[in-house]
Amino acid sequence: MSTANLIKTSSRFKIPFGGDYNPEQWPEEIWEEDMRLFKLAKIDCVTLNVFSWAALQPDEETYDFEKLDRIMDMAERNGLHVILATSTAAHPAWMARKYPEVLRVNFSGMRRKFGDRHNSCPNSPVYRKYSKALAGKLAERYGHYHNLIAWHINNEYGGECYCENCERAFRVWLKEKYGTIEKLNQVWNTGFWGHTFYDWEEIVAPNLLSEHFEENRTTFQGISLDYRRFFSDSLLENYRAEYEAVKEITPDIPVTTNLMGFYKPLDYQKWAKYMDFVSWDNYPNVDTPPWGSAMCHDLMRGLKGGQPFVLMEQTPSVCNWLPYNALKRPGVMRLQSYQAVAHGADGVLFFQMRRSIGACEKYHGAVIDHGGNENTRVFREVQALGQELAALGGETLGTRVSARAAIVVDWDNWWALEYSAGPSTDLKYLDEVGRYYQAFYELNIPVDFISVEDKPDNYDVVILPLLYMVKDGYGQILKDYVEKGGCLVTTFFSGIVDEHDLVVTGGYPGRLKDIFGIWVEESDALPPGVKNGFTWNGKHYPAELLCDIMHMEGAQARAEYESDFYAGTPAIACNRLGDGRAWYVGTRSSEEFYRDFVRELTGDAGIEGVWDSIKDVEVTQRRSRESWYLFFLNHNKESAEICMKAEGESLLDGKAYKAGDRVWLEGNGVMLYRVKMERN
Ligand code: GLA
Ligand code: ZN
Repeated sequence: MSTANLIKTSSRFKIPFGGDYNPEQWPEEIWEEDMRLFKLAKIDCVTLNVFSWAALQPDEETYDFEKLDRIMDMAERNGLHVILATSTAAHPAWMARKYPEVLRVNFSGMRRKFGDRHNSCPNSPVYRKYSKALAGKLAERYGHYHNLIAWHINNEYGGECYCENCERAFRVWLKEKYGTIEKLNQVWNTGFWGHTFYDWEEIVAPNLLSEHFEENRTTFQGISLDYRRFFSDSLLENYRAEYEAVKEITPDIPVTTNLMGFYKPLDYQKWAKYMDFVSWDNYPNVDTPPWGSAMCHDLMRGLKGGQPFVLMEQTPSVCNWLPYNALKRPGVMRLQSYQAVAHGADGVLFFQMRRSIGACEKYHGAVIDHGGNENTRVFREVQALGQELAALGGETLGTRVSARAAIVVDWDNWWALEYSAGPSTDLKYLDEVGRYYQAFYELNIPVDFISVEDKPDNYDVVILPLLYMVKDGYGQILKDYVEKGGCLVTTFFSGIVDEHDLVVTGGYPGRLKDIFGIWVEESDALPPGVKNGFTWNGKHYPAELLCDIMHMEGAQARAEYESDFYAGTPAIACNRLGDGRAWYVGTRSSEEFYRDFVRELTGDAGIEGVWDSIKDVEVTQRRSRESWYLFFLNHNKESAEICMKAEGESLLDGKAYKAGDRVWLEGNGVMLYRVKMERN
């Protein structure tokens, strides 16, 4: 089931526009005023009931849906489409009091009390029972509403718990995975530091009380890695239980939960298999570069094989939780909204509709401010966007981004890599992923994020940044890919371990050795500020962070280190294998290097950017069978000049252009340009 055609207004489909709306926090007189303001801003979709569990279930036996009934009726009367949340991200206080097991135990081993949110233990039988029951009751009561367009399970699943229920469930999870305690001892390498287990009951959760000495520093990587897998699965089980509860009653209503981009604790590639469509919350920091948001959008698009996703939340103006909550400058909210669409979003939603008056989000941006009227900059910007999206209609819905290059991302690898004690604490997965991504971004070359379960064969260039862990069978898939003509790239500290975080012996990069035609004998971690360097294609670049010292075993050296005892040895190697090539980049370099390198790789593969690079102007493309949709996003404060290459129409202002026409795109401006494909 896809997100395209999620909502239909006045006989045509369009991009849903609106967001989280909490009328239950307000007296009912305000509701009518909200309806007036929503109409003014062309808001046609609200996410309801995100944190209402305590109101819906005042005690263990009683449910009270009266207020939600009135809210649902109001939404229906006013032509609003509803994404209905199941409210299970914050359990009621009575439940915590009566059943303390629903409360989480934190990393330090402290049992939490009632408070905050996202505070329920996923392995508490009580939590499981009542969260599932609530989801089912909501489906029974509201499933027949024709304006109910999607289910929103829970909210931003995340966090961790180390309670006794979790510990017990962890043992069960391990037993299912490994079968015998001997196998467990083998994969965790428990011969080290006398950890041999003789009974499953001896296994405890890895936190500050046991294996960890800091959040990300553990003495037993295998145990900690499995706990991460287990905990991501535990929350996923909660999600799936609610998914099934609503599906049983409303099989045709699509189900989602709002994700958070590159959120480390949850293996979203696994989660996405159980989601009808992906949705996510985009909260860039003031200093997040535009490519950082683009990278998250692309990750989200990749989770379901390129299927459009929904931008479930963004702030219309400001956050409350940063140290310095700068305002989004005029035009930036619109620009960021279209950036999501440019990368595959089919819905643009906000947190939140009306600014609350109490507790920690009272200074969080909202469409309707504390002033309570339409006379604000933010409201006017939202309204203008609402009108624009209404006029745009369904043009871009369901269209696809097509990429010939891919970056492989793997959560297990991320977890294992960053638990690794040595060679450098500065080895950060997303840093390396980001460096490659940024290069593609700056060249306006579309790139997909794929998992190690996705076939690389659809891509001409595939990058494996810091693929430290190579799972069973993946080496062979990559080898076939290269032999058939693919261009494969990996980096330093790759191919080191198997899926259990056990080193593959016989020389690094283990399972990738034959593909890259090298043997990495040692890796030198450079402290901050210490640099080596190399020359590639006649240009000098720095070498930082880690320098792999390698021997050529079939590959050709393409750049050599310039200093230290390994001066003159290869820093970059390229191996020809079958019809393809495999590049090993043995060190970290500069932005310039990644750009030049990616330009060469894509150039060799005949991949062109969707547009020439214009400084800080992002250009992406979505495609339907009939048209190309080019998105020009000007991230500069100043205007930028664009010379059109083909006849088409600028859809947001209705202007037509011919090839050769010059257009000035204002600072923070957006142009959505449709080019009709020629038909034979
Ligand atoms: C998250 C949550 C919302 C709200 C916003 C505030 O995305 O899902 O409930 O707290 O953050 O930025
Ligand atoms: Zn727990």
